[in-house]
Amino acid sequence: MYSKIAGTGSYLPEKILTNADIAKFVDTSDEWIKTRTGISQRHIAAEDETTTDLAEAAARSAMADAGVEPKDIDLICVGTATPDFLFPNVGTLLQERLGIHGCPAFSVEAACSGFIYALSMADKFVRLGEAKCALVVGADTLSKMVDWKDRATCVLFADGAGAVVLKAATEPGIMSTRLHADGRYKDLLLYNDGVSKGFKKVRDGTAAVQMKGSEVYKFAVNTLGQLVTETLSANNISQAEIDWLIPHQANIRIIEAIAKRIDMPMDRVIVTIAGHGNTSAASVPLALDAGIKDGRIRRGQLLLLEAFGGGFTWGSALIRY
Ligand code: COA
Repeated sequence: MYSKIAGTGSYLPEKILTNADIAKFVDTSDEWIKTRTGISQRHIAAEDETTTDLAEAAARSAMADAGVEPKDIDLICVGTATPDFLFPNVGTLLQERLGIHGCPAFSVEAACSGFIYALSMADKFVRLGEAKCALVVGADTLSKMVDWKDRATCVLFADGAGAVVLKAATEPGIMSTRLHADGRYKDLLLYNDGVSKGFKKVRDGTAAVQMKGSEVYKFAVNTLGQLVTETLSANNISQAEIDWLIPHQANIRIIEAIAKRIDMPMDRVIVTIAGHGNTSAASVPLALDAGIKDGRIRRGQLLLLEAFGGGFTWGSALIRY
C-alpha cells in the first residue's frame, strides 16, 4: 500500500506587502532585500485572519482538486508553528470547519519543515492501512510573531497555506520521506516564549523570532545539500531522474546553492520566493501547487520536496506525482 497525491490547493492572504512598503518603517531597501533573499513581496494575513482560516481555504481547494467530499477524509494532519490556540489544535479546528467528524486530526510542530513532517506522518498512516484519504496541510501566519522593527527577520517571513489530499494506491505515490532534527541548534532560530515559559516576554513586549541569519544560512545549505544527496542515494536514483526540485522557499541563494551542489539546472526548480517570501510550513505545498496549476508539473513526473526549519528540523519527500 502506498499514498498518492490526489489533489493540491493553496491560499495566500489578500494583503500584499512589498519591499518598498517595508522600507517605509525599517531601514532597508528593495535592492537589499531582493539581492540578499530574492523576495520582492509577501502576503500578510489580516488582523482577524488566523492560521485555520488560511488552512481551510487551501484544504477546500485541494479537496475540490482531488474530487473528494468531507465524508471521504479520514485523517487530518497540519504542519504549523502558529496555531490559533494551543488547543484545540489547528487540525481539529479545520476538521470542524470542514464538517468532518471523528477522524484523527492533529498538528505537527516542526517550524518550516512542518509540512514535510505532516506529509511523512500521513503517508505512514496510509501505508499502514489506517487511513485511505488524508488531508495534509502546511499553514502559517509568521507575520503575527515577527518583530516588525527587526529588519534582519521581518523582511523574510510571510503568511500562507498549502494542502494536499493523499489517497491510498497500489503504486507510489510517495516513494520515501526522510526526516531529521538536531536540537543542539535551537538557539540559532527561535521564538523565545510560550505557555510554559509563562508568556513573560509576550507580556513585556520582547517576544520575537530571533535568528542568527548567516549561521542559519550556512547550516541550511550544507544540511539540505546532504539531505538531497542522501535521498537520491537511499532510493537509488540519480539527479537526472528528478523532474522537479521543490525546495523550501527561505532564500533564493540557499535554493541556488543546493541546486548547484547536485548539478540541478534552475529551470527544473520550482521557485516562488519572489512573490511569497518565507511562508514557513506553507512554503513547499504552495510551491508544489503553483507548479502543478501552471502546468509545469505533470502526472508521472518525479518530484523531490525538501525543507528546513527552526529546531533545527529538516526533511525530504520523493514523490511520483
Ligand atoms: N536591510 C538592510 N540591511 C540589512 C537588513 C535589511 N533588511 N538585514 C540585515 N542587514 C544588514 C546587517 O545589519 C549587516 O550590516 P553590518 O554589516 O553593518 O553589520 C549586513 O546587512 C549584512 O548582514 P548579514 O546578516 O551578514 O547578511 P547576509 O548576507 O547573511 O543576509 C540573511 C542576511 C538573513 C538574508 C541571510 O543570512 C539568510 O537568508 N539567512 C538564512 C535565513 C533563513 O533562511 N531563515 C529561515 C530558515 S527556515
